[in-house]
Amino acid sequence: MAIIGIVAVAENLAIGKGGKLPWHYPADLKFFKQTTTGNAVVMGMNTWRSIGRPLPKRLNIVLSRSAQIDRAENLIFLRSEKEAIDLSKFLNCDLFVIGGSKTYAEFGDAIKKWLVTRIPIAVDDADVFMPEDFLSGFEAVESQELGDGLRVETFRR
Ligand SMILES: NC(=O)c1ccc[n+]([C@@H]2O[C@H](COP(=O)([O-])OP(=O)(O)OC[C@H]3O[C@@H](n4cnc5c(N)ncnc54)[C@H](OP(=O)(O)O)[C@@H]3O)[C@@H](O)[C@H]2O)c1
Repeated sequence: MAIIGIVAVAENLAIGKGGKLPWHYPADLKFFKQTTTGNAVVMGMNTWRSIGRPLPKRLNIVLSRSAQIDRAENLIFLRSEKEAIDLSKFLNCDLFVIGGSKTYAEFGDAIKKWLVTRIPIAVDDADVFMPEDFLSGFEAVESQELGDGLRVETFRR
């Protein structure tokens, strides 16, 4: 079991716009689904609102310091990244940190591996970005073509 960051990032490090993904690439959605299915995913409240429902066949962990959300069978609601990290020690699967940028930042050192889909565009009017140094201390260990002109890179500490 590992804590793994998974993100799709544009050439200018954009990841979101108006509460949504600023692009639609079926090959990346398919990769995300295949990779995370059967595991646990943890997301921030804004990403939860954007997805709008628990992702099927995954344990969904949603983080918020104050909000309440409706219960569902495969949904756990926690108040801090520490609670999610503590829980992950009892899981027999990987925990994927699926964003957004606030949530990735909170998991910081806990993330041991990153899966980064390179989106071959720059999004001028994006409003959520990855920090420039989010891969510092990591090295690229694998690169895979996804189709749709996309590539996913694996980074490890
Ligand atoms: N390109 C990609 O791969 C990708 C992936 C995911 C999301 N996105 C995009 O990113 C954007 C959303 O990102 P965002 O940074 O605005 O928001 P976010 O990380 O999804 O959500 C932030 C909120 O989550 C809660 N939260 C985060 N960390 C927490 C912690 N450690 N403990 C307790 N609560 C915590 C807080 O909610 P409260 O304020 O309720 O306390 C916080 O305000 C959207 O546009 C989305 O589409 C892109």
